[in-house]
Amino acid sequence: MTQPPPRVAGVKSKDIHVCRSCGTTALRWAGRCPGCGEWNSLEVLRAAPTGSVLEEMGDVDVSADPPTPSGVGEFDRVLGGGLVPGSTTLLFGEPGVGKSTLALSVLCAVAAAGHRALLIASEESAAQVARRARRLGPIPSGLGLVVTTDVDDAVAALGHHPRVAVVDSVSALNDGGLTAATGSVPQVRQAAERLCRVAKSTNTALILVGHVTKDGELAGPRALEHLVDTVVRVEGDRHGSLRLLRALKHRFGPTDEVGLLEMVGGGLRAPLDDTLGRRAALEVPGVVGTVTLDGSRSFVVEVQALVAAPTGTARRVAHMVSSQRLSLLLAVLDARCSVETGGLDVFASTAGGLAATEPAVDAALALAVASVTMGFAVSRSIVAVGEVGLAGELRAVRGLTRRVREARRVGATLVIAPADGDLDDVAGIDVVRCGSLIEAIEAARSASK
Ligand code: TYD
Ligand code: MG
Repeated sequence: MTQPPPRVAGVKSKDIHVCRSCGTTALRWAGRCPGCGEWNSLEVLRAAPTGSVLEEMGDVDVSADPPTPSGVGEFDRVLGGGLVPGSTTLLFGEPGVGKSTLALSVLCAVAAAGHRALLIASEESAAQVARRARRLGPIPSGLGLVVTTDVDDAVAALGHHPRVAVVDSVSALNDGGLTAATGSVPQVRQAAERLCRVAKSTNTALILVGHVTKDGELAGPRALEHLVDTVVRVEGDRHGSLRLLRALKHRFGPTDEVGLLEMVGGGLRAPLDDTLGRRAALEVPGVVGTVTLDGSRSFVVEVQALVAAPTGTARRVAHMVSSQRLSLLLAVLDARCSVETGGLDVFASTAGGLAATEPAVDAALALAVASVTMGFAVSRSIVAVGEVGLAGELRAVRGLTRRVREARRVGATLVIAPADGDLDDVAGIDVVRCGSLIEAIEAARSASK
């Protein structure tokens, strides 16, 4: 049986113990994890000496170092200006979404601006990394590369005092002092903890790239959220081109800002104006535009639906739209609007890679299903917004004026909107206010003739 770590009599240990299976922390070593009940799973995590001193609060220097612009404007927007020296940012998202590309773009921009930048690559070879960097453009000087899976090497590399350093990924680092497997909670946490501490002392803005599995759980890095200063998620359908950056935690500013990027052959760039709101050229039944709000941004998104005879049991497939909302809308369409899809396959999705999950997209989603079921195409110059209630009513949405303005910006001429809710005058675009989904369907049909 494993022995508890030795203790020095009279010295109070600040070490904590972390379970290698479930990540539970305990102040004392125990033979059995208090969290999951696993035997001999607790491992010691050495605490750093704190070295705290008592100081006069009024004397504290508040002129903190200014943030370093990341060079990617949309990332800076989310960060509230840039990367704060000595801070740690966790960048996570599904495989293939573009984390490595974004991190590398940041390093290239930082190096091009004359600062020292460093990539600690734990997943890819030097050649793989350099190949990706070449796709982004000429590689600037001052961009260092260390390929290692050893935390000690990574920590030592920060000793070069880079202005910005990226660890891609933290999940692949290994601390030889722990017996837990690479990628396990104690390993990832130990690596992150040591790196954060060193980054603070070298005043390096550190970016840790983390993995997330398909079901959205942060595998390992979930355990890092409280260790780091900022958590940014890269969202989007990796088969589409648009990506959203969203701060889930930000110690240095608000978290309601989102960044928008487009993945192109030469890396990630701010999308051109006409990419946003770009609609399919086809005007066919089942396609309806809407405007979603996210942070201070508004996006025109195309919602698509298809209804088909089932090959087996009827299926409801929702991609980038909420499957709960889809089920609810199909029930409302059936009960309140006589639009029946029972026994049929229903597919719903958005085009372009941006998700549309807020209730304000209900009207467009329901209209898309109604138009494909009833066999009429909704004109591409129509945009629909509104939440649908169980009584078949169209409910008010927040930010209606902003949505109408965005619709006009991308060339829409008519907005189908709820009867309720404040709306300022917006010149150059018509708004039909509808009290119910039936009215909205009628309005869309008659305006599309
Ligand atoms: P990557 O950054 O490796 O994703 P992650 O680190 O999140 O797993 O890139 C994902 C995809 O982006 C990959 O399939 C290739 C594509 N890509 C481009 O389209 N353009 C580019 O310039 C680069 C570097 C990658
Ligand atoms: Mg990667």
